Amino acid sequence: MDEVKKGLEGVVVDESRVCKVDGEEGKIWYAGYDMDDLARYSSYEELLFLLWNDRLPSADELDEIRGEMQERRSLPDGVADLIDREAARTGPMDLLRTSVSALASYDDTPNDLDDPTDRSLGVIAKMPTIIARAHRARQGDDPVEPRDDLGHAENFLYTLHGEEPTAEEASAMDSTFILYAEHGMNASTFSACVTASTLANVYSSLTSAVGTLQGPLHGGATETVIEMLEEVGDPSRASEYVEEKVSNKEKIPGFGHRVYETVDPRCAHFKRHIEELNPDSELLAVADAVREEVEVRLGDKGIWPNTDLYAGALYRELGVPTPFYTTLFSASRAAGWSAHVAEQLDDNRIMRPRVKFVGETGREYVPVDER
Ligand code: SDX
Repeated sequence: MDEVKKGLEGVVVDESRVCKVDGEEGKIWYAGYDMDDLARYSSYEELLFLLWNDRLPSADELDEIRGEMQERRSLPDGVADLIDREAARTGPMDLLRTSVSALASYDDTPNDLDDPTDRSLGVIAKMPTIIARAHRARQGDDPVEPRDDLGHAENFLYTLHGEEPTAEEASAMDSTFILYAEHGMNASTFSACVTASTLANVYSSLTSAVGTLQGPLHGGATETVIEMLEEVGDPSRASEYVEEKVSNKEKIPGFGHRVYETVDPRCAHFKRHIEELNPDSELLAVADAVREEVEVRLGDKGIWPNTDLYAGALYRELGVPTPFYTTLFSASRAAGWSAHVAEQLDDNRIMRPRVKFVGETGREYVPVDER
């Protein structure tokens, strides 16, 4: 019993049908369907249905979930006011986490766990609205009210910029929602499941997950990658940058993964959309140059590009402000979080691991005036 698995490396906590990640081959399957196919041909709304129901929707079912998302994307006044009041002084991920939590106040029965994916849908439909409103409030711009005749990704860009995106931009945005939607038992999903395992409500599970994704070792890397690419500045400086990081034994954002032993398959899709929108993307050129240098210096250590290396460069092409990249990752990953929460509740047992105690025991208490 006493072997410590730091970071829970290699620990299998449960069985799941939601996602298979093959780290050796660099492949991902969402409920049995190849992520490559879904990223090219599906939509985020369809993927939500798939992850929640373990099958693709019929045309009517797809229309129904699309309509449900459109009806539930507006914010309660109290949450809208919270965002307008706090956006100027609150970090985007802190404000998203607080807003998700605040949604519980507008649910008559927040602790009801009978239909967790229905409650999750109400949160997921609203997360892009929260993000766009927060950005515009930080800019001093009036909010753009969501429309009920646009798709999930399309409506996000509309409420962010105040104008409808092109079909290409909407498709690329929808692809980012699909690519970030689900990835097995990553840290933020595990956090959601631990919370759900105590039978806490869905708002608590999703709030736990948003808080967990924030860290730069996880979802926060989407932003630290851009800081890196802008620091490097030009492909010609990639070698010097990587050399310095490697010699200082510093981690390079956008690289490395607990599961992958090859390139993260999501990278190719992010790159594909960047090249379609802007073949001359400077961030893409720098990312590729850094990637070449890392593969030379750290390829034999099994350090490969992960999904965050290119995501930010695509968000940049879509006009998403850098401080909001991880909030979008959250809005997307809420699909996976909610699917795993539903699975957890279907066959629940409270998560309660052990620690190996290495401290002292049997110490005598001494009153403070005798110490
Ligand atoms: C995501 O889990 C998921 O599925 C996550 C995710 C998802 O979709 O949910 O895929 C999304 O979070 C992607 C990861 C984003 N994070 C980063 O890009 C931050 C940089 N990456 C590292 O911090 C790291 O690679 C992790 C956090 C991703 C993984 O950490 P591990 O598995 O605990 O690996 P480790 O820190 O123990 O490193 C093992 C070795 C070390 O060398 P040694 O001390 O053994 O000599 O690899 C080295 C590390 O120094 N290493 C790196 C490196 N990542 C690991 N060296 C340089 N640069 C890196 N990025």
